[in-house]
Amino acid sequence: MNQLFMPTRVIMGKGCIKENASLFSEFGKKAFIVTGKTSAEKSGALKDITDALSKHSISYEVFSEVENNPSVETCYKGGQRAKAFGAEFVIAIGGGSPMDAAKAIAAYAVNDLEPMDIYGTIKNNPLPLISVPLTAGTGSEVTPYSVLTVKEIENKKSFSHKESFSKIAFLDPEYLRSLPRDVLLDTTADALSHAVESMLCKRTSDVSNVYAEAALRHLGQLIPEVLGGKPDYERLLFASSLAGMAIAHTGTVVVHSMGYLLTYHKNIPHGRANACLLPGFITLCNEHNPERLAPVLKAFGAKDCNDFCETIKKLIAQKVQLSQEEVTAFSKKAIQAKNVSQNLWTITEAEEASVFAALL
Ligand SMILES: [Fe+2]
Repeated sequence: MNQLFMPTRVIMGKGCIKENASLFSEFGKKAFIVTGKTSAEKSGALKDITDALSKHSISYEVFSEVENNPSVETCYKGGQRAKAFGAEFVIAIGGGSPMDAAKAIAAYAVNDLEPMDIYGTIKNNPLPLISVPLTAGTGSEVTPYSVLTVKEIENKKSFSHKESFSKIAFLDPEYLRSLPRDVLLDTTADALSHAVESMLCKRTSDVSNVYAEAALRHLGQLIPEVLGGKPDYERLLFASSLAGMAIAHTGTVVVHSMGYLLTYHKNIPHGRANACLLPGFITLCNEHNPERLAPVLKAFGAKDCNDFCETIKKLIAQKVQLSQEEVTAFSKKAIQAKNVSQNLWTITEAEEASVFAALL
């Protein structure tokens, strides 16, 4: 079904927060800022935000306890702090972890929930959210998704709410200039995976393909620059947001659900997990649905399936080692993921095992 829903106002360019500081006043007088441990400060984004807030007499509290792959518990704690502060809106600064955590915090802050209730019905709409991405990959600034780590299920689990889209996303390429090489490769791979999975699933539509094909076109040209260490960061951020807009319409498929297991059990960064699994998944898709893979290859500018997979492999910052036992256990669990039903063909446990086994 074709439906276009992209409620986030995206403002791009160097200095975009300073230039648009007055916009924060629209959301109230008390802001709750959610960050990771260090990057918000190091990148200069936190100072730009707090300067903008102070200029408009908006008080704020900073919650800087979001870890990589944030847990439900951390978000719950942040939500209680935001509630006690009387926050009227939330500002996320960071990569996917702080941005995803902020969506949950915005929901906990205005609802009486136990931690795991976030996966049930949420009565009151979450607080308005403003996002400032510090990596180009997650696309979280333009999606309603929040992927959190849940100890009880030994995996990551996503929740979304129709009001969890950011009201504004500020994309300033200057904040990305100090990204370490491995983070740059991992996050680029995440953006690529979003665009690919969006085009290779049952929910694909003419609308989602507009975003995904544009993202792939940019990424096909940007990846050599990323590998060379000097990408056009503004274009990379834009490509990542386009890929995010694509999955906002379709969701992701098995590359992501399989990757969550690599992240939870093997501590593999999210984007790297995708980069490791994509070649195997794409090869399977080329066997089952070559007519659906063809436009992906064309948009990216790859000669053929093999050429595409070889490029993706260059983004893998470090090889992932699995045992045969892990392949068996992970594929058994991965096949139970909800989004398996959105795969183009009926993927089997043995096929998922073959994708994991390619990493052996
Ligand atoms: Fe992702």
